[in-house]
Amino acid sequence: MREATAIAHPNVALIKYWGKRDSAANLPAVGSLSIGLGALSTRTTVRFEPGAAADTVVLNGNELPAENSKVTLCLDMLRQIAGVDAGAVVTSANDFPTGAGLASSASGYAALVTAGAAALDLDLSSQQLSAIARTGSGSASRSLFGGFVLLRNDGDDTTCAPVLAPEEWPLAVVVAVTSDEPKAVSSRYGMEQSRLTSPYYRQWVDGHDADLEAGLRCVMERDFAGLAAVAEHSCLKMHAVMMATRPPLLYWSAATMACLDAVRALRGEGEEVFFTVDAGPQVKAVCTAAAIDRVAGTLQSVPGVLRVIVSHLGDGARLTDDHD
Ligand code: DP6
Repeated sequence: MREATAIAHPNVALIKYWGKRDSAANLPAVGSLSIGLGALSTRTTVRFEPGAAADTVVLNGNELPAENSKVTLCLDMLRQIAGVDAGAVVTSANDFPTGAGLASSASGYAALVTAGAAALDLDLSSQQLSAIARTGSGSASRSLFGGFVLLRNDGDDTTCAPVLAPEEWPLAVVVAVTSDEPKAVSSRYGMEQSRLTSPYYRQWVDGHDADLEAGLRCVMERDFAGLAAVAEHSCLKMHAVMMATRPPLLYWSAATMACLDAVRALRGEGEEVFFTVDAGPQVKAVCTAAAIDRVAGTLQSVPGVLRVIVSHLGDGARLTDDHD
C-alpha cells in the first residue's frame, strides 16, 4: 500500500440537481448537466496505514470529527473492492472558500476517490470512481470528468459521462464571490426539506427531463442563446423550489441579486453571458471568451462583490506527483 495525491475541480450545474429519490444510496431525483471550473482546485492525499482502526481527515489544516461518515463511506467502498481494512489519513486542501456554494464537496469527493483508489493500487474506470464519489456527494460524480458532463438517472443507478471536452466549446465562467462564509444550510439537508415541504417540488421533478434534454441539445449544437435560456430557467426554478421550502431556503444576498441584474443587462447589450447560482450567494456568469473582460469588470464593480475569479473549463480528476 502506498499513498497517492489527486487534483479535482469543482463543477457548476447548468441544469441543476436538487432532491433525492433514495437518500441512503444518494441517488438524485433528477439528472444534471455541468461544466468544470478549472481555476479552482482541491488537492487530496490519501495514505492507508496498516493497523489504523479509523480514518483521519484533515481539511484545510483542520482535523474533521472522527465520524465524518461520507468520507469513510467512500473509502469503505474502495477498501471492500481491494480487500483491505486499514484506516486512512486523508489530507485535503481547497484553493477557494469551502462550503460557500462553490462546490467544494464535488471536487473533494472526486479527488478523494481518485487518490484513494490509486493508494490501494486499484485500477478502476472513471465511471466506477464517479459512482463511488456519488455516494459522497451527488455533484462529485460529475467532477471525475472534464468539460461538459451529463449525469442521468438510469434504472436503479446513475450514469455519468463527458459530452464535450473543454476545447470543443471553450466557454469561461466568471465567479462573483459575494461571501467567504460557509452556507447556513447544507445542500443535503436543504434538498431533503424541499422534497418534504416545497409545494413546487413535484413540478420540479416532473419537468426536469425536458430541461435536461434541451440543455444537452444546446451544448451539442453550441447554441449559446438557447443554453442561456434553459440554464437560467433551471436555476431560477430550483431557487423557487428552495424559497418555497419550509423553513425557507433563501441563499441569495442583495449582492447576488445585483449580479443577476448586471448579467441580464450585459446580455441585453449583446454580450454572450448568462448566470447560474447554487446553494450559496455566489454568482457564476458563464460567457464566451470574447465577453470575459467586460463580464469580469462589470461584476467586480457590483456593490457587495468581494472579488471575481475567471475560470476556463476544467479537466477531470487526475493523479499528480506534486505533493505540495
Ligand atoms: C445546488 O451534490 O452538494 O449545487 O449529493 O447531498 O452532497 P449531495 O448534494 P450536492 O448538491 C448540489 C446541489 C446544487 C446543484 C448541482 O450542483 O447540481
